[in-house]
Amino acid sequence: SAAEKGGHEYFMLKEIEEQPEALANTLRGHFESGRIILDEQRISDQDLRDVDKVFVVACGSAYHSGLVAKYAIEHWTRLPVEVELASEFRYRDPVLDRDTLVVAVSQSGETADTLEAVRHAREQKARVLAVCNTNGAQIPRESDAVLYTHAGPEIGVASTKAFLAQIAANYLVGLALAQARGTKYPDEVAREFAELEAMPAAVQKVLSTVEQTRDLGRRIADSRAVLFLGRHVGFPVALEGALKLKELAYMHAEGFAAGELKHGPIALIEDGLPVVVVMPSPKGRAVLHSKLVSNISEIQARGARTIVIAEEGDETVRPFADELIEVPAVPTLLQPLVSTVPLQVLAAEIARARGYDVDKPRNLAKSVTVE
Ligand code: G6P
Repeated sequence: SAAEKGGHEYFMLKEIEEQPEALANTLRGHFESGRIILDEQRISDQDLRDVDKVFVVACGSAYHSGLVAKYAIEHWTRLPVEVELASEFRYRDPVLDRDTLVVAVSQSGETADTLEAVRHAREQKARVLAVCNTNGAQIPRESDAVLYTHAGPEIGVASTKAFLAQIAANYLVGLALAQARGTKYPDEVAREFAELEAMPAAVQKVLSTVEQTRDLGRRIADSRAVLFLGRHVGFPVALEGALKLKELAYMHAEGFAAGELKHGPIALIEDGLPVVVVMPSPKGRAVLHSKLVSNISEIQARGARTIVIAEEGDETVRPFADELIEVPAVPTLLQPLVSTVPLQVLAAEIARARGYDVDKPRNLAKSVTVE
């Protein structure tokens, strides 16, 4: 009913609006007495300290949350992090032992590919930490440690609030590891946590400006394809933006690392092709920012219609942006939490303009319990 959807036409639109709350609820209670704490920990602190390698295994949007997490976990812990599609993981021969931590990220906690990856990891004696949105689901039950995202039930098949909550939870895992290993001082952990706590308000701010993005969605709904570009943590955001558009609007969409443009994708640019560019902060990542500005000018010169997601007040990018979507300035590693939101809104609005049911895209299931 309309009431269940909070007055919205679709659950997904309600779930997009619930993202500040999903983030706040996911962070709540995880920083107590100056320490990051997990929900369940059946391995010792010593075992956490001994971890020498991390894998993140997941599917779909959860996989993209892992790609984001890699930047933070490596930076904070100095541990090597590999992010793997769960469906590929156990069919090669991943190098796993008792000092390997496998982080299994799954909204439902029942995804067959992820569950089988967890079982494979445990057979090889690796430790498994589940990041899950569903209390008592199979994946957390079979794991050595659990951190629950508290996004609340997600009805829309395409993940939105669970994805943002997964990014936040993965960051808590990174901080817990940094704290166990001593690669971050307690006051630094406290500062990182405080920055995370400021994110619900930042996401709320993005939500108050999405009307312009909706309007843009309606104007580009007839496009044949859309490309997405990003660098650093903006690269997985580009992948997620493209996935949302495929899932909801059945459009050809591809995400690329912007540095790869010259190695192939630039050949795709043609007159009027919408290209969404996720910009890094001009202050936080000045070098990457200027490289992306030159990428945008190149694709614009070749006829692309540039749609640029940039930090508020980023003036250098303005001349190259046919459409400019501004997001609040936040620390670089946290940018995906704000820059993903307009991409969700864009995909949902394009799908609506094309007359599709955004809660139940064709051929897809919310939880995929077969391999
Ligand atoms: C399905 C959903 C996606 C989700 C993926 C992984 O494909 O449509 O939105 O990201 O499964 O699901 P999980 O429950 O493991 O996070």
